[in-house]
Amino acid sequence: MVLTTTESASGESLYSTFASRYVRTALPRFRIPDTCIPKEAAYQIINDELMLDGNPRLNLASFVTTWMEPECDRLIMAAINKNYVDMDEYPVTTELQNRCVNMIANLFNAPIGDGETAVGVGTVGSSEAIMLAGLAFKRKWQNKRKEEGKPYDKPNIVTGANVQVCWEKFARYFEVELKEVKLQEGYYVMDPEKAVEMVDENTICVAAILGSTLTGEFEDVKLLNDLLLEKNKQTGWDTPIHVDAASGGFIAPFIYPELVWDFRLPLVKSINVSGHKYGLVYAGIGWVVWKNKEDLPEELIFHINYLGADQPTFTLNFSKGSSQIIAQYYQFIRLGFEGYKNIMENCAENARILKEGIESTGRFDVVSKDIGVPLVAFKLKDSNQHTVFEISENLRRFGWIVQLTACLQMHSTLLF
Ligand SMILES: Cc1ncc(COP(=O)(O)O)c(C=O)c1O
Repeated sequence: MVLTTTESASGESLYSTFASRYVRTALPRFRIPDTCIPKEAAYQIINDELMLDGNPRLNLASFVTTWMEPECDRLIMAAINKNYVDMDEYPVTTELQNRCVNMIANLFNAPIGDGETAVGVGTVGSSEAIMLAGLAFKRKWQNKRKEEGKPYDKPNIVTGANVQVCWEKFARYFEVELKEVKLQEGYYVMDPEKAVEMVDENTICVAAILGSTLTGEFEDVKLLNDLLLEKNKQTGWDTPIHVDAASGGFIAPFIYPELVWDFRLPLVKSINVSGHKYGLVYAGIGWVVWKNKEDLPEELIFHINYLGADQPTFTLNFSKGSSQIIAQYYQFIRLGFEGYKNIMENCAENARILKEGIESTGRFDVVSKDIGVPLVAFKLKDSNQHTVFEISENLRRFGWIVQLTACLQMHSTLLF
């Protein structure tokens, strides 16, 4: 994002040592150059400058995939010039996206009848997926309130204070009040009891996280579902649940199959997952699936026909690349359930070893749990007294928890 800054004179031009055999003049930094330069020079200048970026494979603090097999890289490059939205031009890509949506919905135990297909869509990431899921809840709630002749101008959403920033964005961009359950000392996820207490007639949904961004912990969706069912029975409301499974959606089904967190629970109506996290695809792909057709209000779906036949779309963006969808499909058929399970088991094992090593130094407290996203989140022992409680409310804004995650994921994938 570019915000206004005052540039010093020295920052206005770019120079390149190696490209000087092709070009002798400096490039302006913030204006399109007046003249063209040879392609070799353009390549060299950019390549040199990018050397100052970090090396993705050494990035220890990201959930996002940094390595894929060369065969998949080839598929990605072959599709780099396909616009996904042009579904009539690229019907096979559309078909692969639909297969992925159905595979994910089945993985999350969506109740798909014989001859039916799942309801869902590929997105740029979990953030877009969450905006779409949130909009569906908001619209459903508004429609119901209108039918009942009740006010529908004060929707709210209940989450833990540990939610990722995309939930705050959703609330602000789409004018929904965000009611956050405060965290407590030593308990850094949403407490289901407190969440249900905060639900009122204006609550469009409660959002639970399967894999908190900071500590990787899974929230107790089953308990939330049971408590909310009870409250709905008492009040006559039908407040639903969304599960933000950005990370956990591609972990729990493979290594914690006994954990009930998905569409098996009656109140869970939609789930998002990031393909580019434990779905094992490079950045740029997420998914949202709805339990039933009725959970996605028809009026949010646009039907476009100017590129050919009628195509229903429910996304925030229009054009986007096809490569990530193809890469996701590659991973699904290449790894299968067995492959994902092996990789997630490797990740969990690596996390366990790393955790033991960190603990053995005697200087850190590990705050991540054994069941959850396979990462190690830890803090300095002596930062405890004055910080943990004070910052619990604003946990996500502080860098006191250090996470090691991507290295685990990448090495676990390489081992497979
Ligand atoms: C729990 C959770 N939800 C949502 C997001 C946003 O995901 P994305 O980067 O795919 O938009 C993240 C990213 O870290 C996350 O951890």
